[in-house]
Amino acid sequence: MIPVILAGGKGERFWPLSRKARPKQFLSLDGSGRSLLQATGDRLLDLAGGWDGLWVITAAHLADGVREQMPDLPDANLLVESEGRDTAPAVAWATLEIARRYGEEAIVGFFPADHWIGDLPTFHKTLRAAADLAREQGAIATLGIAPSFPSTGYGYIEQGDPAGTYLDCAAYRVSRFTEKPDRATAEAFLASGRFSWNSGMFIFQAGVMLAELETHAPYVMQPLMKDGPAAYPKLPKQSIDYAVMEKTDRAYVLPVAFSWDDLGDWNAIERLLKGDNPNVELARHVGLDTQGALFYATDDEDLIVTIGLEDTVIVRDHKVTLVVKKDRTQEIKQVLKALQDDP
Ligand code: GDD
Ligand code: MG
Repeated sequence: MIPVILAGGKGERFWPLSRKARPKQFLSLDGSGRSLLQATGDRLLDLAGGWDGLWVITAAHLADGVREQMPDLPDANLLVESEGRDTAPAVAWATLEIARRYGEEAIVGFFPADHWIGDLPTFHKTLRAAADLAREQGAIATLGIAPSFPSTGYGYIEQGDPAGTYLDCAAYRVSRFTEKPDRATAEAFLASGRFSWNSGMFIFQAGVMLAELETHAPYVMQPLMKDGPAAYPKLPKQSIDYAVMEKTDRAYVLPVAFSWDDLGDWNAIERLLKGDNPNVELARHVGLDTQGALFYATDDEDLIVTIGLEDTVIVRDHKVTLVVKKDRTQEIKQVLKALQDDP
């Protein structure tokens, strides 16, 4: 499989840690010292057969950051978009380039750079199963996560007819794919028991995705086929989930057995690191009567002192301090709009 890492997003909900030139994929959020992008590469390197087989697609203002964080990535495997146009153009252009280099039969996998994955052996086995499924059935394989709450931030996959077993992993047709439903729809999906969350990883034969893009998103494919990446300014901003996954009948799902988390905001970091501790302390912190809080400081010397504090996130980074109630971290995006210039 040729893994491609999608590394052009913003990750605004981690502001002020994530800034325009340093979005969340460049940050180490789990205390491991490896950024999300580096950790994604580490997970895929074996599958790629080394650096020559791994690709990254990102936006121009982030390209130097990727080169710095992945010094072994060959320059020819780094696709640089003049500006981010969401994931449909990114998948289309990268798949075109890979088909040109390796042929339309090549099995390609797209991977977000903002995930945490536990149990690597099971993750790798599931990906090998997905590659077999893609090869044998012309599938666009998705990996389905058992949903735990009615999230409106994910795609939902309705499981259809069985489609065989690959390396002990049962595969199913997808009967419906709904990207980011509203709350009531998400609740109904969850209650029905037939849906999984879309993990955001897609595995397919290059030629299959190119044909589906031509059918369902000609407004992306035709300009790219005619002008290559010079077409970018003309392309609409649309994700692959809306452009292809909601429309294609080539979608299959493998329900996954590894632990997975989308590191979407500070609450995800808390889920990952809290354990039995009263707070998550990624900063020097002294607290009296403080619980359910998360502290992060970029400068090791910063000290945060709290008294009588609950359920709050405090982040200090280069002269900016964010203090936000844990259940309102989604609203950081609105504040950023008001701030206009990302300080
Ligand atoms: N190269 C490039 N260009 N990458 C991009 C762009 C772009 O314009 N926009 C986003 N990305 C990258 C992000 O950095 C991330 O790694 C990945 O593509 C997915 O984009 P997100 O913006 O994080 O998508 P999402 O989380 O809202 O939704 C997707 O992932 C969910 C699971 O985490 C969808 O596939 C959902 O269906 C899915 O449930
Ligand atoms: Mg995401």
